[in-house]
Amino acid sequence: MPQVVASPTATSRTTLAPFVIDDAGLAQGRDQFSRFGFAVLGPAALTNEVIQQLRAEAVKQRHGGAWPLRYGDGRSKVPEANMRGHFGPAAQGFLRRDSVPRLMRTITGHAVSPSWSASCYTWYDVPGAWLGRHCDKRDACFLTMLVGLESEWPTVSGPPAGNQLWIYDSFEARRPTFRVTTLVNRITILDGKRWPHERQPVQEGQYVSVLCACFLAAES
Ligand SMILES: [Fe+2]
Repeated sequence: MPQVVASPTATSRTTLAPFVIDDAGLAQGRDQFSRFGFAVLGPAALTNEVIQQLRAEAVKQRHGGAWPLRYGDGRSKVPEANMRGHFGPAAQGFLRRDSVPRLMRTITGHAVSPSWSASCYTWYDVPGAWLGRHCDKRDACFLTMLVGLESEWPTVSGPPAGNQLWIYDSFEARRPTFRVTTLVNRITILDGKRWPHERQPVQEGQYVSVLCACFLAAES
């Protein structure tokens, strides 16, 4: 009978399911986060089954469980205009899995738990939708996980600004230090309380939707 040796990759994939990031991707993400305060994982970052569940739920919520968020409306403290939506059972079930804080700890070194009130679906799907430069509030969003659900743009050239998250080293910086393109089934883990970030206004033909999960620092 052939001897079966479990590879490190197989082990990671089991303990971190439904994430499908192999050991090299985890090591790269950990290194990236420690150096720059963010990590880009995938695509693919999640199993096809889970990402399709989240994408389907987001479409449903966009039409039945979403609201506009705009600076000055009494709810937003950030310059922005976009659509937000409640999580349904797919997103809640995903974020309740043990592997979510396990992945966050693997990449960032921090123990965290979901910050439900600060988490939601977000859409930039009408011209002019945007998110102004800001840092996340430490007490509500110690760390963030952004799961790309949709990202479309009309030309064959590179992704336009609105399809990217721009990350700065200061509020005064004239140019972003990093531009992370949002892609379906790509995850970005960000220390958004430390690094200012924004999304430039989308134009005609651009469509972006993201699952934004905020996390609290777990009590030690
Ligand atoms: Fe943010």
